[in-house]
Amino acid sequence: MMSEFETILLSIEDGVATITVNRPDKRNALNAAVRREIGSALDQIRDDTNVRVVVFTGAGEKAFIAGADIGEFTQRTPLEQRAVMSGAVVFETIAEFPKPTIAMINGFALGGGCELAIACDLRIAAYSARLGQPEIKLGIIPGGGGTQRLPRMIGPGQAMRLILTGELISAEEAARIGLVDLVVEDAELVPRTMDIARTMAQHSPVAVQLAKNAIRAALETPLSAGLRYERELFITAFASDDKREGISAFLEKRTPNFRGQ
Ligand code: COA
Repeated sequence: MMSEFETILLSIEDGVATITVNRPDKRNALNAAVRREIGSALDQIRDDTNVRVVVFTGAGEKAFIAGADIGEFTQRTPLEQRAVMSGAVVFETIAEFPKPTIAMINGFALGGGCELAIACDLRIAAYSARLGQPEIKLGIIPGGGGTQRLPRMIGPGQAMRLILTGELISAEEAARIGLVDLVVEDAELVPRTMDIARTMAQHSPVAVQLAKNAIRAALETPLSAGLRYERELFITAFASDDKREGISAFLEKRTPNFRGQ
């Protein structure tokens, strides 16, 4: 598929949309154009029934995303920076996207790149990838949710260590502390990620979205409210055509044909 974007590539295959940040000579740093184009790509695929899962990755062999484009920081006043950060924020758009999102981490995931991965539902990294929040070395702090999502994900102590030292860690260490969900050989990164994405894409889109919503709610609600919410979403799933299809297909020993209704 031809891409109408300049700084990203968008491809759609087998129900999986892949958004590749395509500035390899700048280690896929997130400048205003990349953020805008990721936002437009997500708008484009949000209601596209051909897209059931979204994978984010970086072009080239070195970087997933090496953070915010540091060059842009030199020109902005604090007020301009506030305007940039209070508009549609790409990290929030990703975190709130209704379909499953996977960060396929093929190299450096630093600063805003690490935060973009954290905003996704799942992080799969190549062994050679390195992750970190090096903002402190520039005299700034994470601004894409790092100080808030990271402690919830890996605990406050590890978040303090990463953010206050700015040190990079290996994919294996990231997996040990819960920052990455799966580490695979470099050559396996694309096939394993696509396997997982395609498996999700085969299931009922209704059930997948409800399950995603329920799990996301677990991060924000007390347990009793979360359990009540899960029950309501379960009942919603129970009312779907896809539930009837899934159960009939099981009983008839055939593959279900989910329509997302
Ligand atoms: N913003 C803007 N440009 C960046 C960038 C960023 N976050 N990260 C890398 N680049 C650019 C470099 O300036 C360089 O540009 P040039 O060729 O025009 O000089 C190019 O990408 C290659 O970078 P280089 O440092 O030579 O590559 P490397 O493979 O040796 O190292 C990194 C890669 C990612 C370790 C290193 O570039 C780095 O530390 N980047 C900054 C990471 C960071 O602090 N991110 C948080 C930002 S808030």
